[in-house]
Amino acid sequence: MGAQASATVNPNAKERVVGPIILLGPPGAGKGTQAKFLVDAFGIPQISTGDILRDNVARKTELGVKAKAVMERGDLVPDELVCDMVADRLQQPDCARGFILDGFPRTVRQAEWLDGQLEKMRAGKDAQGQRAYAPPVVIRLVVEYNQLLQRLTGRRSCPTCGLIYNVYYQPPKVPGVCDCDGTPLVQRRDDTEEVIAERLKAYEQLTLPLVDYYGSRRRLIEVDGNQPVEAVAAQMFGALENVNRV
Ligand code: AP5
Repeated sequence: MGAQASATVNPNAKERVVGPIILLGPPGAGKGTQAKFLVDAFGIPQISTGDILRDNVARKTELGVKAKAVMERGDLVPDELVCDMVADRLQQPDCARGFILDGFPRTVRQAEWLDGQLEKMRAGKDAQGQRAYAPPVVIRLVVEYNQLLQRLTGRRSCPTCGLIYNVYYQPPKVPGVCDCDGTPLVQRRDDTEEVIAERLKAYEQLTLPLVDYYGSRRRLIEVDGNQPVEAVAAQMFGALENVNRV
């Protein structure tokens, strides 16, 4: 599936500097799904703040203990905690050609912090390094409300390989089992109707202002996320080609 959607991507894309790409969109918009296509095409890492936080919750780290109740309510984890976590991740050597931010930034404060952080990371780097920490390209996935609800309530994922399925749109070959490694699929604790409503509210109030933030800086690309997965990916790669990221 990835091969078809990224067929037009420059064959050297896995060696060249791509820079930061942000996937922006409400819960269920398909950020994680589309991030996997970008990882395959460019060979740069996906940094999902939701995944890192869930991992911390599972390991009962200090951060995980602080984040657990907030996430279960569908609220946002405090900016300082998330920014520190992202700062650590950006230092890893696999970010040197670029990285995909999935679910970050989610507030204007986080976006301002990221701009400052990238600027700091650019300072003192050679031309390649400077491009790796250039201002980000932001892909906004626009999806209708009812579609979001169905995607979130139908989502299942593989705890071993991370593949994402949907009982309505992308079911596994054998119900409840990962096609790749046979692991039983799981449902996220925050994918209940009650918590989904809170997550969508938090998105409207705190994250939607980022559309203006990045739009006014001419960094925003809008993609119609209502389409089938492959069509969304094709539109996304087409848009990235126009900004010379592929
Ligand atoms: P996080 O894990 O980031 O969740 P989210 O933003 O709510 O996004 P989702 O992962 O639910 O959706 P997605 O857009 O990735 O969709 P997916 O591809 O999976 O955050 C969880 C929590 O952590 C937050 O609530 C918050 O508490 C905390 N947090 C995280 N980051 C934070 C931050 N920066 N600041 C503060 N707190 C933070 O797809 C969904 C389903 O739809 C799947 O089943 C998929 O198969 C299906 N699907 C995808 N695309 C399509 C398509 N085109 N057509 C049909 N089905 C599709």
